[in-house]
Amino acid sequence: MLPIGQTTVGHHDVAASGGQKMQQVIDALQVSSVADVINLFAALFIFLVGAAFLITLVLYVIDRTQTKHAIRRNYPVIGRLRYVMEDLGKYFRQYFFADDRAELPFNRAQRAWVYRAAKGIDTTVPFGSTRALDQVGTKVFVNCPFPQLGDEEAPPTAIKVGPYCRFPYETDKFFHISGMSYGAISKPAVQALSRGAKRAGIWMNTGEGALSKFHIEGGCDIVFQIGTAKYGVRNDDGSLNDDKLREIAKREQVKMFEIKLSQGAKPGKGGILPGEKVTREIARTRGIKVGQDSISPNRHPEINSIGQLLDFIGHVRDVTGKPTGIKMVLGAYGWLSGLCEEINRRGPASAPDFITLDSADGGTGAAPQPLIDYVGLQIQESLPMLVDALLVHGLRDRIKVISSGKLTTPSGVAWALCAGADFVTSARGFMFALGCIQALQCNTNECPSGVATHKKHLQRGLVATDKAERVYRYATTMHKEVGIVAHSCGVDDPRQLKRHHCRIMGANSRTIGLHEMYPPGGSFTPATEKPDTITDGSGVAAE
Ligand SMILES: Cc1cc2nc3c(=O)[nH]c(=O)nc-3n(C[C@H](O)[C@H](O)[C@H](O)COP(=O)(O)O)c2cc1C
Repeated sequence: MLPIGQTTVGHHDVAASGGQKMQQVIDALQVSSVADVINLFAALFIFLVGAAFLITLVLYVIDRTQTKHAIRRNYPVIGRLRYVMEDLGKYFRQYFFADDRAELPFNRAQRAWVYRAAKGIDTTVPFGSTRALDQVGTKVFVNCPFPQLGDEEAPPTAIKVGPYCRFPYETDKFFHISGMSYGAISKPAVQALSRGAKRAGIWMNTGEGALSKFHIEGGCDIVFQIGTAKYGVRNDDGSLNDDKLREIAKREQVKMFEIKLSQGAKPGKGGILPGEKVTREIARTRGIKVGQDSISPNRHPEINSIGQLLDFIGHVRDVTGKPTGIKMVLGAYGWLSGLCEEINRRGPASAPDFITLDSADGGTGAAPQPLIDYVGLQIQESLPMLVDALLVHGLRDRIKVISSGKLTTPSGVAWALCAGADFVTSARGFMFALGCIQALQCNTNECPSGVATHKKHLQRGLVATDKAERVYRYATTMHKEVGIVAHSCGVDDPRQLKRHHCRIMGANSRTIGLHEMYPPGGSFTPATEKPDTITDGSGVAAE
């Protein structure tokens, strides 16, 4: 028998030599696995280079031999980069190339004001204006020499819409959310707008896509829009269903009804919601089929004359008991005389309670380019004309004027009040508040900020509770800063701003008063009364 110690030593030796061997094996394995990995990557690299070469070769042959695209035929493969760059350019040009005042529809300076207001960041700017103040068309407000002491802003007072209705609507706020349908914009966008509007005390217009539970849940005031397809209040044949209308009107939250005749971005064309944006929920809300393009008629089939228009307004008002108005963009304008004369013949109760006037450069989810670019009058011209038509016919007090169209910053809103609007509404201003980056993808369902898409992974970025706060801040900052302009002009209420408070830069760096450009009552022909005998709704002779 071997002594215990010897045996132990023997074991140690065996264990030690075993351990060394193991270590050698591990080392060998490590070396070989590192070598294997390098070999693998090398093989992969060679494969990828080979594949890239092969693909390039195939593309080269395709491009060289195809006959449809000249650039690709002349510059095979490289010519394709053009499409990629064009696509990326949409997203990156605003960061790298465009200067602050360069882009359309909204430049960076305009967007930045909304972003700052919405985020609650200081909206003051340093050093001096970066705007070319002598550019023709620039607005300038005329400060009074002795503004009210103390206050820095003039608060608005309440006005009433629809005095002949069973349920008139009263609000002091002058800046509200313009129609954007649930469909054109996403569920979280609607939710955020609804909650933000409630906090700010402003209304939200449903747009033509009917009323969804997401509009309701925030608790804000709602203007229900009746589009030409009458989504949400239609019979199967597309005509108006009074019972459905009555049901909508029973909701306390729904304050007014707006019959849409036309929209600035697409006059003469109905709404367009591409099929990829018609989800199950949207189809249910509108009463249409999932996945199919939702195209509404270019006008209400039952409204083909001034008489029929007033009949329809009267009918909706009777059924709902609530203020009822129309939305339109002005193109041909002679008919306004006929409208006003017919209202005066029927009596003031027959009038639309409000007219929403949209600008030709208004926004849209989707519209044909010729209509966006070339049809209809811009708000700068049409708003004074409409106000003057009402003045001339003694209806300015009776019919409230709501104006929209790129009025997203305090200067635009203050201008509209000067020109004669009672209210201003904005769609794209509130989209910016929701985080829109003007990627111009509303019609593709690919909106990167989640505002105008129904893709869940893109909607993730738009957290309704957070963005509701921004909607609230944007609206309140707007009221505050328009109040600051009004205060500087020496009036007690932004709605007291008049045309003589605003001047427009002309040629030779000389401004001209808005009241000279559009003498109240005079910009609409035929004017039958002298401008200085016309009252402007406040009961005071206009300037
Ligand atoms: C995404 C989107 C959807 C819109 N949907 C509607 C609509 O359903 N009904 C309508 O009358 N106007 C609609 N509009 C037009 C706006 O209500 C508004 O009149 C126009 O955009 C001008 O305001 P803005 O310059 O502040 O955007 C839509 C606009 C946008 C941008």
